[in-house]
Order: sequence, then structure tokens, then C-alpha cells
Amino acid sequence: MKRVKAIYPGSFDPPTNGHLDLIERGSKIFDELIVAILRNPEKDPLFSVNERRQMLESMTAGFDNVSVDTFNGLTVDYALRVEAQAILRGIRAISDYEYELQMALMNRKLQPGLETVFMMPAEKYSYLSSRLVREVAQLGGSIDCLVPELVAQKLREKMDIANKFNDAAAREVGQHAAGFASGERESERKIKSRKKKS
Ligand code: PNS
Repeated sequence: MKRVKAIYPGSFDPPTNGHLDLIERGSKIFDELIVAILRNPEKDPLFSVNERRQMLESMTAGFDNVSVDTFNGLTVDYALRVEAQAILRGIRAISDYEYELQMALMNRKLQPGLETVFMMPAEKYSYLSSRLVREVAQLGGSIDCLVPELVAQKLREKMDIANKFNDAAAREVGQHAAGFASGERESERKIKSRKKKS
């Protein structure tokens, strides 16, 4: 019997409930599904590839036929390497369609034997993206129900580190400014005392 293996490539920075919803749907129609995190040296991600891998591994631990891997280079080359026959991608809204169609057709041109399969996550995740989750978390908004609790926890840790770093940087700038101001006052005092003497 033919077994169908698919890859689900993406950035997953961070993985969201929308990703998890798609993984669950994909795991039901494919015999094997590999969640493949792109190692992109050009991007400056919030989470390292290892952090994303750990989060996705915990999130998918309950699915027997789902594994997590990382790759660089072309998605189609990776798919070929792991002997996958399909690429799974999610389409949330019509706005995703143009970019996804372009990618799917380019991937087909590069590797005609590989099929792209689109699936739609639940409507409640149709507005959800990793970029918005990062932005909301960075600006102190609630990310409950948008990401699994373990991802929310990691995001809170990241924000704490960033806030501490910003506080320390602000203190250092403040100290420099105070030092500069007191230096200025000292110079003014010296000038005034010189004027008095003369
Ligand atoms: O989660 P994302 O950022 O929407 O995922 C995009 C991804 C990783 C699927 C896409 O950028 C990709 O496939 N990159 C690998 C390089 C590649 O194959 N480029 C040609 C795509 S047509």
C-alpha cells in the first residue's frame, strides 16, 4: 500500500495554535508528517531554531506520525531528501492565496513530482500569525488562546529578558546623562569662580 509522507515547512517563530491546528489536520490525512523549520540565516528570529524545535516537539508529542526537523536551502530539495511526496501549507484567508500560489507553482516548476496540499485552519485562527503574536507579546498584550501555554511561557521569558535589558540600558544612558550634566555644572562653577577672581 502507498504511504504518503508530507512536510510542513515554515518559520514557526513562534509556533501558534493555528500551526497546531494544521498539524493535527495534516496528521489525519498523511501517513507521516514532518514539521520542517527553515534555518534562515538572513532572518533575525525571536526564537532560535533550537528553541522552536523544542516547542514544536512538545506541542506534537501526542501525534504518533508527526516529527520535527530543521532544514536550509530549497524546500523541494529537503522534501526530496526525506522522500516526501507532498508539501503541506495553510491558507487562512484570501490574502494568503497569492503568495502561497506563487510558492506552490515555483515549487512545482522546480520539482514537478511534488504536490502542494493546502489546508484551512479553524476559522477562529484565521487572523492569527506568528508576526502578530510577537508584536502583541512585545507590546504587553494578552496572547492567551493564541499559542499553547508552553509557548506563552517562553514568550513571557523572552519579554522579561528584553525588558530587563532595556531597563539596564536606560539606566546606563541615564547615568551617562547625569554624569555629563554634573560635569557641565562643575565646568560652569569653575568658570564663575575664575570670573570672580579676575
Ligand atoms: O512560515 P513561513 O515563513 O511562511 O514559511 C515560508 C517557507 C519557509 C515555506 C518558504 O520561505 C520556503 O520554502 N523557504 C525555503 C527556500 C525556498 O524553497 N524558496 C523557494 C520557495 S518557492
